[in-house]
Amino acid sequence: MATRRNFFRSASVLAGTGALAACSGTGGSGYEQAASDTWRAVAPAARPHGAVMRELVRCATLAPSSHNTQCWKFRLASRSITVRPDFARRCPVVDPDDHHLFVSLGCAVENMVQAAAAHGFMAHAEPRDDRIEVMLEPMRPASSDLFHAITTRQSTRGEFDGRPLLPAELKELSHAGSRPGIQPLLLTDRNALEQVLALVTQGNEAQWRDPGFVAELKAWIRFGESEAVRTGDGLFSRCSGNPALPRWLGSRLFDFAVTPKSESDRYAAQVRSSAGIAVFASRGDGPQQWIEAGRAFERFALHATALGVRTAHLNQPVEVPALRQQLAGWLAIGGWRPHLVIRFGRGPVMPRSLRRPLDAVLPAPGPV
Ligand SMILES: Cc1cc2nc3c(=O)[nH]c(=O)nc-3n(C[C@H](O)[C@H](O)[C@H](O)COP(=O)(O)O)c2cc1C
Repeated sequence: MATRRNFFRSASVLAGTGALAACSGTGGSGYEQAASDTWRAVAPAARPHGAVMRELVRCATLAPSSHNTQCWKFRLASRSITVRPDFARRCPVVDPDDHHLFVSLGCAVENMVQAAAAHGFMAHAEPRDDRIEVMLEPMRPASSDLFHAITTRQSTRGEFDGRPLLPAELKELSHAGSRPGIQPLLLTDRNALEQVLALVTQGNEAQWRDPGFVAELKAWIRFGESEAVRTGDGLFSRCSGNPALPRWLGSRLFDFAVTPKSESDRYAAQVRSSAGIAVFASRGDGPQQWIEAGRAFERFALHATALGVRTAHLNQPVEVPALRQQLAGWLAIGGWRPHLVIRFGRGPVMPRSLRRPLDAVLPAPGPV
């Protein structure tokens, strides 16, 4: 998917001249304030139970989600939180079987589990048919690096610095991203990265040929700051290193300036500047494994963040079914199913993404 997400190189020039500043949706939009509110760190402290439960949900919503759809809903009870899919936010073209949607729920659950420990609850997450029940048992608060990383993690779509990670760091990441039945395969050999890049390029070209894919992606792009702040979701262009533009202009430039070649070139630079690529794979294949894969990936991303290592998605090879088979065959992982392709490395932070307010994901006053 993802990612004709860096399409306005030409517009940057215009924006740099200030010619677009007046109409770019920048300035006075409140974006910076919204971003710092979204990502504020809240130290665990004695507060009313209902406030703690809402804080756990807020931490869950800081998880990554496909196209930043935030495809989740929550319900509070006194000692549990139910996490449900919000099917109104699905992406039927890039994610026809809701795989990414359930992976995103897994990411949210992992954030909630980490936050719960810091706030004094042992959380036990149990996937049921159409939801995940997170049971909370009081315990002595146990803050962790993973908890602190919830508010600093991001999907960083810029180039990294090309430096390798230490063997000990790779080992820690591999451990953090492993769960029963789920393994991250860490690739650091340059030839292996080129093989994955070839699949990313093929996937990019295949997706780009599909007008439905492009239309769906465009619908989730937030071209200007005001638009991003108003919706609190989607892919804000500055998070990919592009200038903020009013929708009428951004949309036209997107049609005009983004080509499969320009995107493939960008992916090549991103892969070649990365320290490595992790492919998350599971033994089985169904919503439960998708949720587990999301949990494993989010632990990996949080641990990476704690080490000062950034992560970003390159999921084309798992989104195009024929390429997914090719990837699995090349990795020689038997019947295991690859879920996510994640590059990692060190590099500068990018502008932060936004989230919708808590009231958008919780029912009106719950029984807490
Ligand atoms: C299942 C899943 C698939 C994703 N696929 C892509 C992708 O292919 N390309 C990309 O750039 N980002 C991808 N993302 C990252 C989201 O776009 C990102 O989480 C979202 O925009 C919010 O930004 P943040 O992670 O920085 O908070 C994916 C995230 C998830 C959970």
